[in-house]
Amino acid sequence: MPSLANKRILLGVTGGIAAYKSAEIIRRLQDAGASVQVVMTHAATQFITPLTLQALSGNPVHLELLDTDAEAAMSHIELARWADAILIAPASADFIAKLANGEAGDLLSTLCLASRSPLAIAPAMNQGMWRNAGTQHNIERLRGRGIHIFGPTEGTQACGDVGPGRMSEPEDIAELIADLFETGSLAGKKVVITAGPTREAIDPVRYISNHSSGKMGYALAEAAAEAGAETVLISGPVNLASPDRVTTISVTSAQEMYDAALAEVEGCHLFIASAAVADYRPVQVSEQKIKKSADNMTIELVKNPDIVSAVAARQNRPFTVGFAAETANVDDGLERHARGKLERKNLDLVIANDVSDRTIGFNSDDNAVLVVEMQTSESIPKINKSILARQLIAKIADMIPS
Ligand code: C5P
Repeated sequence: MPSLANKRILLGVTGGIAAYKSAEIIRRLQDAGASVQVVMTHAATQFITPLTLQALSGNPVHLELLDTDAEAAMSHIELARWADAILIAPASADFIAKLANGEAGDLLSTLCLASRSPLAIAPAMNQGMWRNAGTQHNIERLRGRGIHIFGPTEGTQACGDVGPGRMSEPEDIAELIADLFETGSLAGKKVVITAGPTREAIDPVRYISNHSSGKMGYALAEAAAEAGAETVLISGPVNLASPDRVTTISVTSAQEMYDAALAEVEGCHLFIASAAVADYRPVQVSEQKIKKSADNMTIELVKNPDIVSAVAARQNRPFTVGFAAETANVDDGLERHARGKLERKNLDLVIANDVSDRTIGFNSDDNAVLVVEMQTSESIPKINKSILARQLIAKIADMIPS
């Protein structure tokens, strides 16, 4: 079964007898590595208790759209942004009709409208209701909007009927959700990504560094691996686990990152420089801890090698993507700065973000970026970094020669 490591799945449970299988779905998703939050409709609570699903998911179950306490903990928009994918299982005929109409009368349907993540439903209902032209018309409308329909399967139903309408089995549903993340768009390609900060030693205990968390680079590595690439992540010191199926090379200084990047660039099709490399390092690294004595001290610095420029300057260079972390918003010339970087460093693409906005960038789980090419640019509004990474990888995969 493909992995769901680090994936965040929002499980929507609607009213139907198959709701008892939602408990098992939570388990199967967790077995594959996902974290799960549950949203139930009122009808669903007639079939299985929120307490059961709360105990299994390890998270409070969300029930109400207009609930001040729940909104204070995690607003419905945050919840929509949190999800890497929304799975509605079971999806009742009534909920499918609401979804097809774009309704937002309860929490779950509102989340479905607010989210930009993949949405999948596992219908479950009586065979007559499933076969009904009204339901079939709604299913076709959902399919046309890119919503994934898992099942239903045929067999004996709770009501005694035999026919199509049984919800797919929990392990099949978990596998289909995991398949959504496997695109294959970078199959056969080698991708090298730098991430995190670098540390430039002053003496054995002190260093110069920055606030980069590495989250964006790690999310990109995960998305590249998901897309089928042989993925190498060259990472400065961060507090993140190495993503599944990614070869992680840990480095400390800019010079070490440079050496590792140039050793890995051979045979590489895509190089993404998301690391916040320290621009300068101390000329002298003291072997002993520097003692406190004078009131003032000066550290002389020398420029570090520019890793992404060195990669872009090679013959047979990979498709090369840089980041531009600027304290300038869109109106203040973020695009102008980014395009300058694109030209100066001979890059194919620059992903620019405004690091003065504390709700995005550096240490945040979210990011909003401007993707700048030579002639055009595209703005991607605030979204969680793993969804953004997937969108960026999909866009870049389209641009790379096959
Ligand atoms: O020049 P500046 O640091 O603003 O450029 C940022 C881009 O260049 C990022 O993609 C960063 O990873 C890369 N970079 C690099 N080596 C350096 C400095 C920046 O690869 N020494």
